[in-house]
Amino acid sequence: MTTQYPLPDYHTAPVPPPAPRATTSAATLLGIFAAGAAVSVALGVYGKLHDPTGIAVSLAGFSSAQAAKAWLATGAALLAIVQLFSALGIYGKIKLGSGAAVAGVHRWSGRLAFLLVVPVAVHCLYALGFQTYDARTIVHSVVGCIFFGAFAVKMLALPRKGLAGWVLPTIGGLVFTALIVLWLTSSYWFFVTIGVQR
Ligand code: HEM
Repeated sequence: MTTQYPLPDYHTAPVPPPAPRATTSAATLLGIFAAGAAVSVALGVYGKLHDPTGIAVSLAGFSSAQAAKAWLATGAALLAIVQLFSALGIYGKIKLGSGAAVAGVHRWSGRLAFLLVVPVAVHCLYALGFQTYDARTIVHSVVGCIFFGAFAVKMLALPRKGLAGWVLPTIGGLVFTALIVLWLTSSYWFFVTIGVQR
C-alpha cells in the first residue's frame, strides 16, 4: 500500500522571504560621517589654538624641511593617481587585468601614500598651525583638515557590509581631490616660487 503525502500548493503557498542581507543603516553611516567631521574639526581647532612652534626638522638628502615636505607630498600625490586608476579598475570602468592584483595595488598605494603624508601633516600642524594669511594657506589649512576627516570616514566605512553603492566612490573621490588640492597649494607652489630643489 502506498501512502499519499499532501503536496504543497505552489500557487498559494507563501514565498519564503529572502535571507536578510547585512546592510549599513543610515544611522551608522551618519555616525561614521560625524566621526570624520569630528576629526577634521579637532585638527582645525588644534592647528588654530596652539602656538606654532616653527620647529624645522632636517631630513637626510634634503636641503630644508620645506623641500623634504614638498617631495614627500609629491610622492603621495603620485600614489594618489595610482589609487584613482586602480579604483577605476576595481569598479570596471577601465580594464586593468586581474581583480585581486588591482585591489592589492590599490590597497598598498593607499597605505604608502598615507605613510608619506603623516610626517608632512604632523609638521604642518605642529610647526606651522592653521594659517590664514593668504587664500592659498587658508585653502591648504582647511583642506588639510578635511583630508584627515575624509580619510577616517573611508577607513571606518570600508569594513562595513552592504554599504550603499555611492559611499566608497564619493568618499574616495573626496580623499583623492583633497590630496591633489593639498599638493597644488604646497608642493606645486614651492616648486614654482622657490624652485625645484632637493
Ligand atoms: C595631507 C595633509 C598635508 C600635506 C600633504 C601638506 C603638505 C604641505 C607641504 C608640502 C607644505 C610646504 C612645505 C612647508 O611650507 O613647510 C605645507 C605647508 C603648510 N601647511 Fe601643510 N600639508 C598637509 C596638512 C596641513 C594641515 C592639516 C595644516 C593646518 C591645519 C597645514 C598647514 C600648512 C601651512 C600653514 C603651511 C605653510 C604654507 C606657506 O606659508 O607656504 N597643512 N604643507
